[in-house]
Amino acid sequence: MTNFKVVDRQQLGKQYFTLTLEHPSKMEKIEAGQFVEVEVAGAKDVFLRRPISIHDVEDNRIKLLVQVVGKGTRKLAELKTGNTVNVIYPLGHGFSITGQRPLLVGGGAGIAPLLHLAKSYNAKGVRPTILLGGRTAELIAVKEEFREYGELLFATEDGSLGEKGLVTQHSRFAGDYDHICCCGPTPMMKAVARYAREKGTSCEVSLENMMACGVGACLCCVCDTDEGHKCVCKEGPVFDIRKMTKWMKN
Ligand SMILES: Cc1cc2nc3c(=O)[nH]c(=O)nc-3n(C[C@H](O)[C@H](O)[C@H](O)COP(=O)(O)OP(=O)(O)OC[C@H]3O[C@@H](n4cnc5c(N)ncnc54)[C@H](O)[C@@H]3O)c2cc1C
Ligand code: FES
Repeated sequence: MTNFKVVDRQQLGKQYFTLTLEHPSKMEKIEAGQFVEVEVAGAKDVFLRRPISIHDVEDNRIKLLVQVVGKGTRKLAELKTGNTVNVIYPLGHGFSITGQRPLLVGGGAGIAPLLHLAKSYNAKGVRPTILLGGRTAELIAVKEEFREYGELLFATEDGSLGEKGLVTQHSRFAGDYDHICCCGPTPMMKAVARYAREKGTSCEVSLENMMACGVGACLCCVCDTDEGHKCVCKEGPVFDIRKMTKWMKN
């Protein structure tokens, strides 16, 4: 557990905000796809920490991209520059950063881990294709930040940005990729995983199951994989879809 200092807070539209948190000294190495458990201080009825992906990493700072959906995230939205926030980090296992022609697909708050992921590919000399989706342009919280790290494409259901439709309907979705990484709403991840499975393309998905402890102790985050029940917090949140036939079918 570490007390980080809030050094920046940005509001992105109505639902999203970013927090840049500074570690007091040198941070541990953080893999793309790992997450933090953030304490929600000062809320009488929020006892559990909230799991949030690590959106970006720079020196001794991490950035979080948060969507306000309930009482915990609403309380976190009140944090201001100069405040202290207690964080357990880095948790879980990240993406494998494999392939020479990767496609990164994100939707909703699921675009959060993709920025650090795109940068991690760049560090290996690979420029990914990044496909971000949402119901409307406004609901894709972060856009241009991605541009310098890969080829950036959008799909929106109302056609307000990029191609009209779901990410899986985008004309470039069925491209010549050798690996797919996906994070977003479960139906989107299942559709992407089924496509990858049919095409024989390797694919990883990052699950966002409800969590409590975040460290494999309470078993409240288990998912049914082909190798039995796995804690998403400890053995994920990133899973190779080759082990996820049961999850894909349900
Ligand atoms: C590994 C992981 C990484 C995550 N990364 C991010 C991130 O980068 N940015 C972000 O905004 N959110 C992220 N989430 C989701 C985030 O943890 C939840 O939105 C948050 O815990 C909700 O807390 P709350 O108190 O505001 O909502 P609650 O009051 O607890 O619930 C409000 C509503 O949100 C739903 N909800 C609660 N938890 C989840 C969840 N885990 N997934 C989907 N729906 C949920 C509830 O069913 C309910 O409908 C992540 C979740 C996991 C497991
Ligand atoms: S959240 Fe407790 S075991 Fe995963």
